[in-house]
Amino acid sequence: MSDLQELDQRVMWHPFTQMAEWSPLVIAAADGNYLVDSDGKRYLDGVSSLWCNLHGHRHPRLDRALRDQLDRLAHVTFLGLTHEPGIRLGEALVEVAPKGLTRVFYSDSGSTAVEIALKQSFQYWQLRGQRSKQRFLRLGEAYHGDTLGAVGVGGIELFHRVFGPLLVRSMAVPTPAGTDGSVSLAALEEILAAHASEIAAFVLEPLVQGAAGMLIHPKGYLARVAELCRRHSVHLILDEVATGFGRTGTLFACEQEAVSPDFLCLAKGISGGYLPLAATLATEEIFSAFLGSPAELKQFFHGHTYTANPLACAVGLESLALLVESSLPNARALIPDMTLALARVQALPGVAGVRQCGFMVGIELETVSGRALGAEVCLRARSHGVILRPLGDVIVWMPPLSLQASDLVLLEQATTASIGEALA
Ligand SMILES: Cc1ncc(COP(=O)(O)O)c(C=O)c1O
Repeated sequence: MSDLQELDQRVMWHPFTQMAEWSPLVIAAADGNYLVDSDGKRYLDGVSSLWCNLHGHRHPRLDRALRDQLDRLAHVTFLGLTHEPGIRLGEALVEVAPKGLTRVFYSDSGSTAVEIALKQSFQYWQLRGQRSKQRFLRLGEAYHGDTLGAVGVGGIELFHRVFGPLLVRSMAVPTPAGTDGSVSLAALEEILAAHASEIAAFVLEPLVQGAAGMLIHPKGYLARVAELCRRHSVHLILDEVATGFGRTGTLFACEQEAVSPDFLCLAKGISGGYLPLAATLATEEIFSAFLGSPAELKQFFHGHTYTANPLACAVGLESLALLVESSLPNARALIPDMTLALARVQALPGVAGVRQCGFMVGIELETVSGRALGAEVCLRARSHGVILRPLGDVIVWMPPLSLQASDLVLLEQATTASIGEALA
């Protein structure tokens, strides 16, 4: 074990990691779609560094945008002051976002983007005099982040078992994945008919529930949800932290059903995978409820030290341009090849099914009792030159949108070989 590995084991505490069994892989550098470890071994970044890298690592245009901004201003607070990169990125986001979303509130992670939408929705209803609207709706197996508000509107049973007493309480609507959506919609309609006066918002990921296991919703489901929420005066909060910035084949997933939510939560790909940044977009109608004289205390009481960090915003602006110009068209052109590769993976022994929405893929393995097959396959994939992460027994493919045809071949070969070895 190297000095760094030993030191990591001595002082670090890694997220979602059983540290008793932790064996560190030190990443020393990166180059395009590849990560390089401290021994010089290269790995395809098959999950885009937890779904945030869009254009590959060390992209010359993003590096330049970051260095140029560094020569001007690294950070200043957005509380009481403002700056050009924040303003310019805000304008660009409003331009590409679904119609009606005109206001941008920055933060620094997907969890905070969701948490902010929850608080804004809650405060909006208070300000409008509808004080009973204090509850939230969510989908069954939802995942919206790890802060207490975000866990509260999530449906991961394990997290609720551990943190239950601390959480915002929410009501669950059955996940429509794998069905025609009618049961879920009927349940939603029933809850709204009985409780709309107590419900502030419905929060959900549009089209695909990522961390829940790449669960894909039936066509038309999102549009129906939007219609029901509108009819019952319940806000629609769309969490596009995972699905946004080209992942599903369009800039935002909700475009595919022509839905414009009341709030749109963005993070991960917003800065191309370079720096922590997030944004919660809201409509002018919501924003205007918070206006008044300072003494009225209507302003939104929330903010973080690194809100709208100028370096992150400068990279985000360049990343958005690059996405529209090249990375999204590149990914779209490769989606059919990925579908063909997945058809071959689906036919492998031990594979229960595959799910794909653009560049979001889940490969579900048949469960073998007493084994964590997903984790085993991902660990084996490293020896074949690919970094993957599982969601239980679902192997995730979420490569950068700059993926090349040769990278896709490696991704398929490494996955196939690793599944074969794990089952041998
Ligand atoms: C849909 C969704 N929402 C929120 C989050 C939380 O984002 P973060 O890890 O940046 O807090 C994630 C992270 O995976 C996510 O997939």
